Amino acid sequence: MSFSADWLALREPYDLRARNRDVLERAAAAFAGEPAIAVVDLACGTGSTVRALAAHLPARQSWRLVDNDLGLLARAAAADRPPDLRVTSTPVDLARDLEAALDGPLDLVTTSALLDLVSAEWLERFVAEVAARRLPVYAALTYDGRAALSPADPLDQAVVASVNRHQRGDKGFGAALGPTAVAAALSAFARVAYEVVHGSSDWVLGPSDQEMQGEVLAGWAGAARELGDVALPDLMAWITRRRELIAAGASHLRVGHVDVFARPTGRR
Ligand SMILES: C[S@@+](CC[C@H](N)C(=O)[O-])C[C@H]1O[C@@H](n2cnc3c(N)ncnc32)[C@H](O)[C@@H]1O
Repeated sequence: MSFSADWLALREPYDLRARNRDVLERAAAAFAGEPAIAVVDLACGTGSTVRALAAHLPARQSWRLVDNDLGLLARAAAADRPPDLRVTSTPVDLARDLEAALDGPLDLVTTSALLDLVSAEWLERFVAEVAARRLPVYAALTYDGRAALSPADPLDQAVVASVNRHQRGDKGFGAALGPTAVAAALSAFARVAYEVVHGSSDWVLGPSDQEMQGEVLAGWAGAARELGDVALPDLMAWITRRRELIAAGASHLRVGHVDVFARPTGRR
């Protein structure tokens, strides 16, 4: 599955605003007082996690950015950064070569907007691999299936149900966890006796967020169309009504996400 740089640029400020403060602070507190930190960011896209986290971590940072999209990786590598921040970018297919991405000296694993794309098997493998290395994980912005549109439309529920079914399709890692990813991650980390904090990081979009709302809803209409759960004329009428509300500055949209920080405890 590919993600355009334009879409990642559009969503980044919303992601930044949505990131759960408590979870971010717990992640930052785990490294407070350390002189330096080595981080791997899985599925880095254009590097939004570095931009979101750098100011919260020890000044001397080395980041290994990993993605399988060479275009996104090139953008991530080219970004301007403070001199204390060392960044390397590595092309890795995480479905195949997760272990290679985690090898070498590391203090923290980060990822954003990835866990809903992966399968139950991949998540188990990921948690087993980080637990074997005793690595903490900060995983942000996992979609959790909650979606609220206002004003409500009679077709909203059917479209959201179709989107959530589409989220379970294969995104390159086998059948995706989609809206079940958060619960699966929390129980997988509990099984390896990690201490976990989590909190919501919803996109809260209002009348001034017209482009973002338009893109999200266009994506939803595309997903519902692909599955054919909603009759096409009804779907077209739905997206037209929702677009009119967006254009009139009357549309509100909330999309549920959850952030997680998980770290090994003494027990295993
Ligand atoms: C929703 S985007 C999130 C990007 C970035 N973490 C962010 O928050 O802006 C998902 C990312 O996963 C990457 N990805 C998808 N499948 C992958 C795979 N098999 N191996 C490595 N990266 C993958 C995509 O290229 C994309 O950059």
